[in-house]
Amino acid sequence: MKLSISRGDLYSLKVDALAVGIFDDLDFSGLKDGAALAKQAARLRFKGSAGESFYAFDRAGSPAKDLVFVGLGARESYGPDEARKAAAAAVRRFGERFSRTASLALAIGEGTADAGEMAAAAAEAAVLTDHRFQKYLTGADRKVEGLAGLSIHAEKAPAALKDRIKAAEITARATAFARDLVTDPSETMTPEIVAKAARALGKEYGFTVKVLDEKKCREMGMGAYLAVARGSKVPPRFVHLSYRPARAKSHVAFVGKGVTYDSGGLSLKPTSSMVTMKADMSGAAAVLGAMKAVGELKPSVAVDGITALCENMPGGGAYRPGDVLKSMSGKTIEVLNTDAEGRLTLADALCYAQKLKPDAVIDLATLTGACVVALGPDIGGAMGNNQDLVSEVLAAAKHSGDELWPLPLPGQYKKFLKSRIADVANVSSVRWGGALTAGLFLQEFVDKDMPWVHLDIAGPSFREDDGVDSHHSEGTGAGVRTLIRFVQGRTR
Ligand code: BES
Ligand code: MN
Ligand code: ZN
Repeated sequence: MKLSISRGDLYSLKVDALAVGIFDDLDFSGLKDGAALAKQAARLRFKGSAGESFYAFDRAGSPAKDLVFVGLGARESYGPDEARKAAAAAVRRFGERFSRTASLALAIGEGTADAGEMAAAAAEAAVLTDHRFQKYLTGADRKVEGLAGLSIHAEKAPAALKDRIKAAEITARATAFARDLVTDPSETMTPEIVAKAARALGKEYGFTVKVLDEKKCREMGMGAYLAVARGSKVPPRFVHLSYRPARAKSHVAFVGKGVTYDSGGLSLKPTSSMVTMKADMSGAAAVLGAMKAVGELKPSVAVDGITALCENMPGGGAYRPGDVLKSMSGKTIEVLNTDAEGRLTLADALCYAQKLKPDAVIDLATLTGACVVALGPDIGGAMGNNQDLVSEVLAAAKHSGDELWPLPLPGQYKKFLKSRIADVANVSSVRWGGALTAGLFLQEFVDKDMPWVHLDIAGPSFREDDGVDSHHSEGTGAGVRTLIRFVQGRTR
């Protein structure tokens, strides 16, 4: 899809489809056939809330073949989140009628909200909604070609809009890239294939890429990570990408959970819980997505992207409940449940990341079902050992399309991770607060003075229904946009 900016008269736009934003005051008066359109809206019970939409009965004076109206919500509260919803709803409509060219006229630059931010939100949502995972569809009937061209219409657009839309496009494509890594099944998306994707990014953007095999990881002492990998026939791959600009203002490390399939291991999951576990590498996908954007945006921030990739399977070599593992940090871990595997892989990946001496470490992981119980399917949990960093990450997430909410790491719960024979147990002795005890487990492997944030994205990383700008049964690229904005924030 080619994105552009259009200005001037709405009725001069020669596109297949035109979407026009309408506030909840339902004011159609500035449009041709305004009175008739208002009647249609009333007949369809259209209220103008953000993301609501309808096709006009006819062209109503527009040269576009199809005319769509999308709700923007209340004028006073119209912001990037509403622009995102409206753009996504419009592009979903364009898909219904197989439009190839379209324009979005969403009152950008009209209210008090920053026009650049609004245009960027709309552009991101449009690119993401237009993106579909169709790799395995063979019948042409089910495939949608999507948009070839889309203009963001802004009558009073400042010149800076162009750069904002370019950055938005990069961000959206990086998010779509992560989505596809997640959506592609485990059979295809093995640790080696993910490593290959990382190498390709390295080649394209000039990153240094290290891919460590099992032997090398053993030499480095990654006993926790390798234990998880042992039950599968597919070999593990530890991936480290690094981006080093000429003059870095800051240095950050991103660590993603990269379990390419989580069967639970010997502590086998029930059938229903296993179905979506191809998405257990969403953290790794988010890191690779963010690295892709970093490669294109070239920020003045040094970035390391790290993931310990493996499958958690119950094969003959599988690690067992009761085993004691020695992690790279030297700490020993008693395994009480092989389904709490993500934290084991992360223990070693976090240890590796800290050796690079970054100013901050952020990990992203589909770590616990408990986090989904706590925050529901849309919202990820943010925990950390440094309030400033937690706030910085939450600020980066705000209006990004990712939703995060802070969760605590209560010191008094550390006792639940006590093991009688090892330094720490991999699961809590109590049932409750599972997202927090998982975070506390990770904290055992983070130096006290290393600013660190843990994002549990078990809920938002995958959805089985349609999201605002995503399609059902697809990865969502959760975390990518937050990481990109976080890096951009550190260039200032
Ligand atoms: N990958 C899962 C967590 C998960 C659950 C992600 C649902 C997405 C949706 C993780 O490895 C896991 O199995 N966690 C266990 C931890 C438990 C054994 C302490 C869980 O949440 O049940
Ligand atoms: Mn698991
Ligand atoms: Zn898992």
